[in-house]
Formats: sequence, structure tokens, C-alpha cells
Amino acid sequence: MELLSDRIKKLEESATIAMAQKARELKSQGIDVISLSLGEPDFKTPKHIQEAAKQAIDEGKYFSYPPVPGYPELRQAIADKLKRDNKLNYTPEQIVVSNGAKQSIANTLLCLINPGDEVIVFSPYWVSYVELIKLAEGEPVIISGSIENNFKATAEQLRAAITPRTKAVMYSSPCNPTGAVFSREEMEAIAKVLSAHKNIIVLADEIYEYINFSGEHVSLAALPGMYEQTVTINGFSKGFAMTGWRLGYIAAPVWIAKACNKMQGQVTSGANSIAQRAAVAALNGDMTATKDMAKAYLRRRDLVLKLLNEIPGMKTYVPNGAFYIFPDISEFFGKSDGETTINNADDFCLYVLNKAHVSLVTGDAFGAPECVRLSFAASEEDLKEAIHRIKETLSKLK
Ligand SMILES: Cc1ncc(COP(=O)(O)O)c(C=O)c1O
Repeated sequence: MELLSDRIKKLEESATIAMAQKARELKSQGIDVISLSLGEPDFKTPKHIQEAAKQAIDEGKYFSYPPVPGYPELRQAIADKLKRDNKLNYTPEQIVVSNGAKQSIANTLLCLINPGDEVIVFSPYWVSYVELIKLAEGEPVIISGSIENNFKATAEQLRAAITPRTKAVMYSSPCNPTGAVFSREEMEAIAKVLSAHKNIIVLADEIYEYINFSGEHVSLAALPGMYEQTVTINGFSKGFAMTGWRLGYIAAPVWIAKACNKMQGQVTSGANSIAQRAAVAALNGDMTATKDMAKAYLRRRDLVLKLLNEIPGMKTYVPNGAFYIFPDISEFFGKSDGETTINNADDFCLYVLNKAHVSLVTGDAFGAPECVRLSFAASEEDLKEAIHRIKETLSKLK
């Protein structure tokens, strides 16, 4: 322990993974736990994508190290997708494929951040952002949205947070953990602030692009003045239900793509070859399965909202994308069932896990200690049962 680096000592464990572990422990004792803590589609990868992977194995041509930034066919398919869906013009040279969007984000931060550089993070934020900034020896600067404005920090807050040390800005839209989606107007206001600071690079995390109920996905890089300053992060985990295949990518100015290529060449080499062949089929193939999954998430969102709104003390809003809701549960702080007192969101999650056997994640991990995250990537039956149990358990708190 003593011998470990300061770097790893400072790094927090992933709260979502820790909660999933606790839920697994209870399950192994035979307890029927409904897990709403992981950020993972409950659907299977669409059949035609599975078939492409099988075919790649059968062809026998993809067993060697792939090129570090990804196969040319995949980078071309990504470039075509960016043109088709996002009106963005990228050449394959500007694209780097990695082992998940998580690695894409890590690569980008490690290539851009010097010790002491500030990185502005829109909060609530995805758990790994702040830890990866710390790993790169940067300093996270948090700007927070509130439940009243659907958890969206504003362009004004961004302008006020910029200092001469600001090197980068990070956000996800649709957002994990809130499901918030920036509108075109909001995004344009953000772009206006940033385009006046040409030395600030934005990491625009668009991994939930295809799970968007607002009717429009806006890519920051496509807005005036932003192309040269934006690294678009995306991947296959969420829209194509491919979490285990581990594949994500960046589209960026050439100098950043080259740096990420160099970084990845030393750390992991290219991403899994068979998964890359499957990803070509995902991007070039029929999108019906992706659209159907998004429709199912929308139905579940409406169901979850209706049921949560029936719980006294639960404060909600309408998430416009992804598969999470992030209710404010601070009404329950200070209350007790005679045995357990709820003082914070951690206590709330443990109480709900131990008494209702439903796993959620504390908002603390996402920069909002008054909230909890509930993932609705679960069957309607499980969601109904889980929220029924939560309601019963919370009714015992006085
Ligand atoms: C906002 C956000 N970005 C990036 C990722 C990483 O995705 P992956 O590494 O599976 O591609 C996730 C996964 O939960 C996420 O929620």
C-alpha cells in the first residue's frame, strides 16, 4: 500500500461499480435484488452486429494487431456517420478508435492537460470525468445546474468559470446521470462563450446520442467556430447495446487525433479487432433496433416518472435522454424508521438497498449530494416492482 503511487492513492473507486458489487453480494445470499445502479442497456446487441463479428472470425483475417487508431474501414464508417447524423466533415485521419469512450476520454485528457491546468466540468457529471482529470494532474472546476433548470449549467456560468488557466471543458448531452439534453439554443450560447477562447478545447461526450427524446441532437463541433476546438466523443456501448465489446472513438482536429494515437500506441495498441468489424456493421447497417431501444427507454421513462411522482417527498423533473433519472431525495434527510436515520444520499441508497432490495447510486459520485441516480435500463416489470418497494420502504421514514 505504502509503495503505491500518489496518483492511484488519490483516485476514487467508481461508485457505480461499488454499488453493483454490494448488490451482487446480497444476491449471492439469495436475496432478490433489483439492480438499477449500472449504466448499461438491458438489451442484447442487435443480431446483424453479432453476425458481423461471427463472420469476421470465420473469415480468419482479423487475428493480428489492428492499426492503433482503428481499421480504415471503421474510421471511414465513423466519418460517414458523422456526416450523415451530425453534419460534420472528418477524414479518417481525424478519428481514433479506442477500448470504449472511457479510454477515448482518458487519452484526450492525458494528451491535453498539464499539471495545474483547469478543466471546467458541467455538473452533475459522469463519475469518471473528475477522476480522469485528476489522473492527468488537472484541476476540475465544477459548474452546476439545478433540478429547476433540468440540471443544465448555463453559458453564463461557463463564462464566469473561465480563467487564464482553463484548458478544457467537458460535458455530456444527453447527460449521464441526469438525462438532460442541451437544446440548440443552449448549445449556441455555450459555443458563443467558447469561440472567444480559442485555446480552450471542449470534450463533447455524445455517447447517448441515439437515446434522445427531445427530437434533436446537437453536436457542438457543428456550431460556428467550434470545429477546431472540439473533440467529439462517442461510442457503441449505449446506442447499440455493446458495452462488453469495448469500443469508442474521438473525432478531433488532426493534431489531437495524432497525439491520442501516439498515447494509445504505448498504452493499449488498437482496440479489439473483431469488435471493430462488428462496429462497421453497426454504423452502416439497419438502425431499426437502435430506434426501437430508444422507444422502449422513452416508455420506461414515462412509467418511472409517473411512479416516482406518486412517492411523497420525491422531487423529479423530466429527463430528455439517456436512461437515467436523478431525483432530489433531500426531503428524506433527517428522517428515520426508528432503526436507521437518513443523513445523506449514501445513507438513502444503503437504506433502499438493505430494506427494499433495490440498488441505486448516490448523487455524491456525480457532484450532486442531494440526489440519487436510478437507471431505467431494466424491464417494465422490474421497474414497477422496484419503485413499489422503494415507496413502501420510504413510507416508514418519519
Ligand atoms: C457519459 C458517458 N461517457 C462515456 C461512457 C463510457 O462508455 P464506454 O467506455 O462503455 O464506451 C459512459 C458509460 O457509462 C458514459 O455514461
